[in-house]
Amino acid sequence: MYIKEIILENFRNYKYEKIELNENTNIIFGDNAQGKTNILEAIFMLGLGKSFRTNKDKELIKENEKNSKIEIKFVKNNRNEKIKLEITDKKRFYINDIPVKKISEIVGKINIVLFSPEDIEILRNEPIKRRKFLNIMISQLRPMYIHLMSEYNKGLEQRNNYLKQIKYENKSKNNLEIWDEQLVKLGIKIYEYRKEFIEKTNKKIKEIHSKITNNKENIEIKYKTNINKDNYLKKLKENIEIDIQKGYTSVGIHRDDFEIIINGKNVAIYGSQGQQRSSIISLKLAEAEVIYDEIEEYPVILLDDFMSELDKKRIHGFINNIKNNQVIITCTEKIRLDTMVYNLYKVENATVEKK
Ligand SMILES: Nc1ncnc2c1ncn2[C@@H]1O[C@H](COP(=O)(O)OP(=O)(O)OP(=O)(O)O)[C@@H](O)[C@H]1O
Ligand SMILES: [Mg+2]
Repeated sequence: MYIKEIILENFRNYKYEKIELNENTNIIFGDNAQGKTNILEAIFMLGLGKSFRTNKDKELIKENEKNSKIEIKFVKNNRNEKIKLEITDKKRFYINDIPVKKISEIVGKINIVLFSPEDIEILRNEPIKRRKFLNIMISQLRPMYIHLMSEYNKGLEQRNNYLKQIKYENKSKNNLEIWDEQLVKLGIKIYEYRKEFIEKTNKKIKEIHSKITNNKENIEIKYKTNINKDNYLKKLKENIEIDIQKGYTSVGIHRDDFEIIINGKNVAIYGSQGQQRSSIISLKLAEAEVIYDEIEEYPVILLDDFMSELDKKRIHGFINNIKNNQVIITCTEKIRLDTMVYNLYKVENATVEKK
């Protein structure tokens, strides 16, 4: 699939801008703080229904304006389609000008894999970043997953509130059962999806990473969860006293995590900087291949400030891996890629000029 045109209206620092892209490679360059990442953020918003930088929609609206609009025309399965987002006090999405009721209806229409300088946090930070990675991949491919996650999170919040009421207001423990059964029912489905997609990613990443490293490194992703299908309810019950003391639920898929293992060792702990970076690149490339296998369309690759992280030799290897995808690159230097055809755009103070 590929994006043909993006229109930004009062989005971030943009007043009004229309950008036409080619279906291969598009390089957007410009100084810092001119609006490069904002373009990728707009694309991501229409792909995933939310920003990768903020949860506060208000920040997306141009200063001193009341509403904001993003429109993307794209081609998928050889069909021309359009998704539009209006941000006011809330978000309204439209597919081909028809209003959409639930966010899950638009997620995954535009398939994307984003490479950003913050990706390294997937390894370094708390498990929440790794769960976010899984959520982004699975949501694009299984609309049901978004619904399950939102129901699970609601149930979890209610259970946590009730735990506090048991502690401070002497409410009965017996009522916890209602939440427990609900969480187990939803949680097992989420667990199944995560297991399935970690396995799929594993198959892809092994091959990709072994090529990148000339067969020197054997990579593997290990799903880490404190539950399984058979013991979920039992584990919740075993931990009731601890949960009441803490005021939150200690067992369940909301604590899930995964590790990236290279040659038998956790790369987050034992890997060199280079190994850490390349393992994340392999992970994202694997995500792109999983998406392709599922929908037989190449996802759009967004590379935010990416080239700064790679030397010339690796750029070529990397580009080779994504030669079938539409690629949108942002960078501060006007880079030259001798091997390929590309459009070049200069961004200066929220104005995009095709060069
Ligand atoms: N709601 C908003 N209204 C107006 N301007 C905004 C808004 N949100 C962000 N900006 C401005 O957008 C600019 C940053 O845009 P962006 O992140 O796209 O920069 P960039 O070109 O990617 O820069 P860098 O090379 O440093 O990554 C900043 O100048 C910021 O002040
Ligand atoms: Mg940027």
